Amino acid sequence: MKVLEVKHPLIQHKLGLLREADISTKRFRELAREVSSLLTYEATKDLSLETVTIKGWEGDIEVQQIAGKKVTVVPILRAGLGMMDGVLDYIPSAKVSVVGIYRDEETLEPVPYFQKLVSQIDQRMALVVDPMLATGGSMISTLDLIKKSGCTDIKVLILVAAPEGLKALEEAHPDIEVYTASVDSHLNEHGYIVPGLGDAGDKIFGTK
Ligand code: URA
Repeated sequence: MKVLEVKHPLIQHKLGLLREADISTKRFRELAREVSSLLTYEATKDLSLETVTIKGWEGDIEVQQIAGKKVTVVPILRAGLGMMDGVLDYIPSAKVSVVGIYRDEETLEPVPYFQKLVSQIDQRMALVVDPMLATGGSMISTLDLIKKSGCTDIKVLILVAAPEGLKALEEAHPDIEVYTASVDSHLNEHGYIVPGLGDAGDKIFGTK
């Protein structure tokens, strides 16, 4: 599994602002969206191009356009929705495939409860988004699900990842690529990433 901790100064600056304890819902949303756009920029740098001829102001010219596979964004409910618009800012025509996962209270296993995938997802590159990769359970379950539908070209965008989650993801899905703004120190006893961002879902939705 390829893990890219993107050290671009704009990403690192915005990540620092996201870590502020007293950040407002509005600011958290804005920054999460901006960092998601920048991660998208990084994750799409190998998309292939083709040359096409268009009518320019002085006659026909050759220009480049994206060739090959189209994209589907896959937000994992609910916090993943906070990254979706950041991806769509750069890939406005991408289709959206939504996945909902909950954790069974008894078995602690992740259980998919909602999925609405685009048709022919096997023909698309999937950009799966979730702000926090903690234990990796929801992400692994989501990737199981979209792979079952035939999707093979998968990149994962995460704001902050825990080493424990990355290890679990690597074991389950060694073939994917992960783009993250930070690999943090560890998970605490409550399953929160340290130093992390706190509860990203609550911060995005303004709930507590
Ligand atoms: N989910 C969060 O929102 N934050 C964490 O630190 C871990 C999981």
